[in-house]
Amino acid sequence: MKNAIIPFYDPLLSYEDNYQQGPFGDFARQPKHIIEMAKPTHFLNLAVNLPFGIPAGPLLNAKYVKAALAYGFDLCVYKTVRTKAHKSHPLPNVLSIHPKGQLSHQVDTVLADRNYPSPISITNSFGVPSFDPEIWQEDLAEAVTAAKKGQYIIGSFQGTIGNQATIEKDYALAARLVAQTNAPILEANLSCPNEGVHKLLCFDFDKVERIAKEIKHAVPDKPLFLKLAYFANDDDVMPLLKKLQGTVDGFSTINTLSARPINEVGHPALGDDRPVGGVCGDAIRWAGLEMVKRLVRLRNELASNFAIIGVGGVSSALHYQQYIDAGANAVMSATGAMWNANLAFDIKNSLTK
Ligand SMILES: Cc1cc2nc3c(=O)[nH]c(=O)nc-3n(C[C@H](O)[C@H](O)[C@H](O)COP(=O)(O)O)c2cc1C
Repeated sequence: MKNAIIPFYDPLLSYEDNYQQGPFGDFARQPKHIIEMAKPTHFLNLAVNLPFGIPAGPLLNAKYVKAALAYGFDLCVYKTVRTKAHKSHPLPNVLSIHPKGQLSHQVDTVLADRNYPSPISITNSFGVPSFDPEIWQEDLAEAVTAAKKGQYIIGSFQGTIGNQATIEKDYALAARLVAQTNAPILEANLSCPNEGVHKLLCFDFDKVERIAKEIKHAVPDKPLFLKLAYFANDDDVMPLLKKLQGTVDGFSTINTLSARPINEVGHPALGDDRPVGGVCGDAIRWAGLEMVKRLVRLRNELASNFAIIGVGGVSSALHYQQYIDAGANAVMSATGAMWNANLAFDIKNSLTK
């Protein structure tokens, strides 16, 4: 293929190979230039160059984080970690998906393959792998020290059923281990499966409340974000926000929309044991924007001041602006950034013209 874009995470390689050999494409080289913003923006009580970055997932280790920082992504989330090592699903982990029209939130069946067009939507299926804390703590600490003025690293983590007496305790331990690396902001991933693949933890409000309180008790002095999935109605998420008032500092949303990726002969494209995958990229932007507008509305109703990180389908300066106009305090891009290492520069350019 002529002039093919090389994503910084190679979907054809295993997670382990990406970890060892990546990042690829532009992220493997220093950028040709940098773009400075005239003045910083306030995010929480921090001065950030541009409240834009890469959410949990694609930045596998300090090498990836350093590249992202050099390319002007000023809020970088280090990949979700666990309290014990956890293996990645085998390949395929990232397939391109081709929904007919708009993807719904009702687990649509979509064609998936290895043609990665632009604008791109993908299914990602990793099972949230992690190394042991003794490996990731040192690496995350190194990533934290790489942040320059106006840049911040966010440490994402999640609990694992069976690692401690309760999942609440495991979330708290993970938070403590992340805090020891000096990461200035914490993010608990709650959009992971709870009981079975279809029930996400963030839909179990009592459990989320207990988890958030355990985390806050374990690490009282760092801002805490929760990563939420898409909720289809205001009334669906309001009870959760009420329970969390005073405990969490913000929400990052959305993670992915679930779909059934199939190959050209109608078989599960991720394998028979993985009929459902999370979709991210262009096809879910509508859902990310809707969730941000929903949270802004409910924040006003509650007279609350939690921060909102808008995530989902951002691949241009226009998309960034749509999220900011919707009321997001910060914006992040995973899929869009993977295929365009210069995305933060594109946005900064558009704002400094
Ligand atoms: C390769 C990849 C890995 C991901 N891994 C995680 C993860 O470990 N934890 C998490 O909270 N979200 C994870 N995500 C979800 C992203 O953080 C983000 O919420 C989602 O991709 C939507 O953003 P996008 O449309 O810009 O890709 C991952 C996404 C991608 C593309």
